[in-house]
Amino acid sequence: GLGAISIPVVVHVIYNQANPDENISSAQINSQISVLNADFNATNNDKNQVPSEFSGLAANSDINFNLAQVIRVSSTRTSWGTNNAMKYSSNGGSDAVSPQTHLNIWVCNIGGGILGYAQFPGGNSSTDGVVISPQYFGTTGYVSAPFDKGRTATHEVGHWANLRHIWGDGRCRQDDFVSDTPSSDRPNYGCPTYPTAHCRSNDMTMNYMDYTNDACMYMFSEGQKARMRAIFAPGGPRDAFLP
Ligand code: ARG
Ligand code: ZN
Ligand code: CA
Repeated sequence: GLGAISIPVVVHVIYNQANPDENISSAQINSQISVLNADFNATNNDKNQVPSEFSGLAANSDINFNLAQVIRVSSTRTSWGTNNAMKYSSNGGSDAVSPQTHLNIWVCNIGGGILGYAQFPGGNSSTDGVVISPQYFGTTGYVSAPFDKGRTATHEVGHWANLRHIWGDGRCRQDDFVSDTPSSDRPNYGCPTYPTAHCRSNDMTMNYMDYTNDACMYMFSEGQKARMRAIFAPGGPRDAFLP
């Protein structure tokens, strides 16, 4: 196997000059790195809430994140949308740093109620990484319930590592390409009670790749772990992350 996978992280904080809250603290940034490490190593302290039906599938993905660099950029923009403008200094944003070997995270106000978005492996390297609005990044400081437990980044980094939404973004037969995640035909929201069933099986609503509240998602599955780790293997789209 590949063993532990280490991911150096570059955080770009792009804040509106009139809203100093958006210039989030180092403590807030560090709180997010801690959540990523817990969630991708199954050391999150809510893992014990996984129901017994799924507890044998809760995976330690063995992926570690370390903060390599923080870049701060003051801007006159109040929101950035989802067209990747924040990823270019020529637009008043901040250019990706070494995206072949670093996870780039842009923290800026996306607007429109969007928590975050991500780029899948294999895309343009200048836009590779994830974008998260500051209110949904980390667990302390300028954060907003019920998305104040750092799970937006866990979800988006899941996409960056090739995971699809757990319901496959379609009807029952639409796959997420992971065999141990139950089929579903919709996202779940809020904090569903177990069991919640669609497509003749119980949904894994507590999976990071569903749409539930931060406090109600606390696992990746073994199949998701295998799908994520495959991209770092030799010949995979993110193999440059390995030494
Ligand atoms: N809507 C976003 C996406 O599809 C993020 C959802 C994150 N959910 C959460 N509970 N933080 O990528
Ligand atoms: Zn998503
Ligand atoms: Ca599945």
